[in-house]
Amino acid sequence: MQYTRALVRPPSSNFAEGLTSSGEGPPDIARAIEEHRAYCRVLEECGLEITELPADPRHPDGCFIEDTAILMEHGAIALRPGAPSRVGEVASVMQALRSQFQEVAQIFAPGTVDGGDVCEVDGHFLIGLSSRTNELGARQLARLLGDLQCTSSIVDIRGSRLLHLKTGLSYLGNSCMVVSEDMPRVPELSQYELIPVPAEERYAANCVLVNDRVLVAAGYPMLAGLLKARRYNVVPVEMSEFRKMDGGLSCLSLRL
Ligand code: GLY
Repeated sequence: MQYTRALVRPPSSNFAEGLTSSGEGPPDIARAIEEHRAYCRVLEECGLEITELPADPRHPDGCFIEDTAILMEHGAIALRPGAPSRVGEVASVMQALRSQFQEVAQIFAPGTVDGGDVCEVDGHFLIGLSSRTNELGARQLARLLGDLQCTSSIVDIRGSRLLHLKTGLSYLGNSCMVVSEDMPRVPELSQYELIPVPAEERYAANCVLVNDRVLVAAGYPMLAGLLKARRYNVVPVEMSEFRKMDGGLSCLSLRL
């Protein structure tokens, strides 16, 4: 898929009040804002036009905008994040999407789905059941995707240490998937060529294919080397402050 647009939201001044389990200490806000700018520049270099929503201090996790929606050429689905503090992030994203899509479908309570639990693989969607995405939400999403002529499979990661499905895997096209050792080896992955991420670089398993480049968190040379050996055009992106808040590269944008 050739991406042309991305929706982003920079971190707010109270970003440090967001949810985290990393134990890595509070993020440096100025540095987080600079890293976010650099991330947007990389997306622009990949050919994407950026739409930036204003920072929203009511929702300190709001920069992780991927959790709020799924975008496709022929439709958008507004999600319902599983953390109660994040549900309110969706309204302003929906408003922005309504100017770009004729219809925006929705996940309804008590269903919950975080976008970080949804991985598109050439028009097929893997939906992770996690501490954030519940069975009702996953089933609603599968139905809505079906309405948009997309297939899906539900993958249970609840027994793992992964926050989201895409904390543990990323699809890089050509049937290749980057997979951390934390990702349960479920039958749904058996048809893909798996590129295992070294255990000490597990954070980097959340990487993103954007047109002809793969964005990989900076500071993970083993995974970068594995990908370069496979002739991927690897672009390192500094993520130090987002990592402290349990956020990965894919979480920072909604791409279309
Ligand atoms: N801080 C990102 C999340 O927990 O959703």
